[in-house]
Order: sequence, then structure tokens, then C-alpha cells
Amino acid sequence: MMTPGKVAVGTKNLFMPSPVTLVGANVNGKPNFLTVAWCSIVNNFPPMVSISLYRIRHTRAGIKENGTFSVNIPSSRQVEVTDYCGIFSGKNVDKSRVFDCFYGKLKSAPMIVSCPMNMECSLHSTHSIGTHDLYIGNIVEIYVDEDCLTDGMPDIRRIDPMVCTWKGNYWLIGEFVAKTFDAGKRYKP
Ligand SMILES: Cc1cc2nc3c(=O)[nH]c(=O)nc-3n(C[C@H](O)[C@H](O)[C@H](O)COP(=O)(O)O)c2cc1C
Repeated sequence: MMTPGKVAVGTKNLFMPSPVTLVGANVNGKPNFLTVAWCSIVNNFPPMVSISLYRIRHTRAGIKENGTFSVNIPSSRQVEVTDYCGIFSGKNVDKSRVFDCFYGKLKSAPMIVSCPMNMECSLHSTHSIGTHDLYIGNIVEIYVDEDCLTDGMPDIRRIDPMVCTWKGNYWLIGEFVAKTFDAGKRYKP
């Protein structure tokens, strides 16, 4: 029996919010980036991240070829170029000149200079789920713009990342609410 006030809206991918990232890999020696919202931290020691890619994505060939990829966090001022990478496939347009790129320890994972935060990843494993393949990567290094650090740590207000809803809208991060692993100490059951 339904709880009063609840409406069943079906089984769609409505999980929200999702992070907005640009994932990069070298496909046939050329950088290619796609927008990825299905991205998450999946392990602590060593730090690992996952991305879920639909089977037809051009970028997948580069991840397979090199065993490396990057996860770049764009700031909200990069919304148009971010969306562009999510509309047009490298199969049909050359996205290799969209961004100035740099390389790190792995030498083959292209990272975006203009994105305030970049995660360089080596492929840990690939898992076929259904429509999508889940790629898990070891984060081998994280690069952050100097002016986006506070006390040596990435500062979410300075990075100014976006979140999104599935086939919906891009949103800014809102206001500070409370400290994690701290607010609960004040809860009285
Ligand atoms: C906001 C947004 C989020 C997206 N998230 C994903 C995602 O998580 N996984 C995926 O496979 N495609 C996602 N896409 C679609 C791809 O980014 C898009 O199909 C892209 O053109 C593929 O590029 P490629 O073929 O060059 O790899 C997203 C698109 C947008 C606009």
C-alpha cells in the first residue's frame, strides 16, 4: 500500500543530483572528451572513480586502447563547451582542438587546462552492465588550479562545479549547510 503523499513516477534514471564532468581519452592519438554525469567515487584506499558509458561512445575506444582516462571538473562558466561535448560525438566532429590539453604521470590521459580540477586515471576494470559499460579507474593524480585551493585542498566555491538532472538542467552548487561527520552529533534521536 502506498504511503499517503507519495506518487510513484516510474523507473527512470531520475537519481539526482548528478555531477557534471568531462571525461577524456586519446582516441587514435587524438584527445576526445565527452560529458559524463554518471560518475562517482567508488573506493577509498586506493582512491577509485567510476564512469558509466553507453556502448556507442567514441571515447571508449581510447580508454580501451591506452588503459587510461581523465575526469575533468568544469566550472559553471564552461557550461556551453561542456554541453557541446555532450551533444556531438567524436565519431562525427573533431573535438581534439576544443580544449588545450596537458598530460601527467600516465602520459596518455589528456586533461583539460581550463577545467579547475583534473583527475588522471588508469583503468582498473570494465564491467558490462546492460546498455552501459562501467569503467573503474585508479586515480593516480589530481591537479587543481592554484587559485581554487584553500589550505591546500580543492575549494568547491572556487571551483564552481555544476550538477545536473537527467535530460534536464545544469545547476550551480548552493549554499553551505553544515559540516559532514559533524551535524549528526547534534541530532537527538
Ligand atoms: C549533461 C550530460 C550528461 C551526460 N552523461 C553521460 C554519461 O554519464 N554517460 C554517457 O555514456 N553519455 C553521457 N552523455 C552523452 C555523451 O556525452 C554524448 O553522447 C557525447 O557526444 C559522446 O561523445 P563521444 O562519442 O565523442 O564519446 C551526457 C550528455 C550530457 C549533455
